[in-house]
Amino acid sequence: MYQTEKNIFNLLKQATDFLTSHNITEAQLDAEVLLCGVLKIKRNILATLRQEKISQEQFQQYQNYLNKRIKGEPVDYILGTSEFMGLTFKVNSNVLIPRPETELIVEQANKFIKENNFKHILDLCTGSGAIAVSVARYNDNISVTASDISSKALQVAKENAAINNVSSKIEFLESNMFANIIDKKFDIIISNPPYVTEKEYKCLERELFFEPKNAFLAGEDGLDFYRIIAENSARYLNPKGLLLLELNANIFLQIADLFNDFLFVKIIKDYSGLDRILIAQNG
Ligand SMILES: C[S@@+](CC[C@H](N)C(=O)[O-])C[C@H]1O[C@@H](n2cnc3c(N)ncnc32)[C@H](O)[C@@H]1O
Repeated sequence: MYQTEKNIFNLLKQATDFLTSHNITEAQLDAEVLLCGVLKIKRNILATLRQEKISQEQFQQYQNYLNKRIKGEPVDYILGTSEFMGLTFKVNSNVLIPRPETELIVEQANKFIKENNFKHILDLCTGSGAIAVSVARYNDNISVTASDISSKALQVAKENAAINNVSSKIEFLESNMFANIIDKKFDIIISNPPYVTEKEYKCLERELFFEPKNAFLAGEDGLDFYRIIAENSARYLNPKGLLLLELNANIFLQIADLFNDFLFVKIIKDYSGLDRILIAQNG
């Protein structure tokens, strides 16, 4: 793009055309969200500013953002923030960008925590802390353990706890799955583990290669982490405690098969009709 005396309406049109010409599918949305990031405003305000002009500095920052976007960098990484469960999260390339479908597992967890007065929660593979922080934010009198193998991810998760005022409710633990979780029992274990098969990984959209590889890859059949969870979680759950897992919908039957020793196993579909959450109860 080139600098002109364009107003915001025309600037957005130019930016949308620029992104479209580089095969960005949601070009208009991305052009608007990135401009809002530059102007530090909410998107609903943008329409009221259509006749306004932006400064040279703002234009340069906008151009920089658009240039990153055409190389495939996700909008949330460019802006450094993501929205999840109505909360704001810091994100960078050390953490997976929280996905809207993951909100379902938090909604389910919140329901069970309130119904059963659960107190002790584990978020295994916490990444940005999206699940741990949201659960801590929406439930009183609970303590959450948030673990991940990546110290860089945990650093971001800690910042997100602080941003959302729940630091006192969450303990962060660097751990290869259950390895460093010692002498602890939980009422609920929640996890959105890596679950992409090697074959699926090769076919991912280019945007996803900006995200950490170890947030996706789960061995040849995608089951590596589900197997570890199936083998170990009962030891970490209180009697009648619950396990809530996000599923790779393509292999949900193979995943469910791993949890035959639990009292019951239930699968819940997401809003797109995909088999997305496994709920299993400890004996
Ligand atoms: C799919 S991401 C989930 C992130 C976050 N919970 C969410 O839902 O947005 C999986 C996370 O598992 C972590 N991870 C990968 N291998 C692990 C391991 N062996 N032990 C613990 N965490 C691991 C990655 O660092 C990544 O943060």
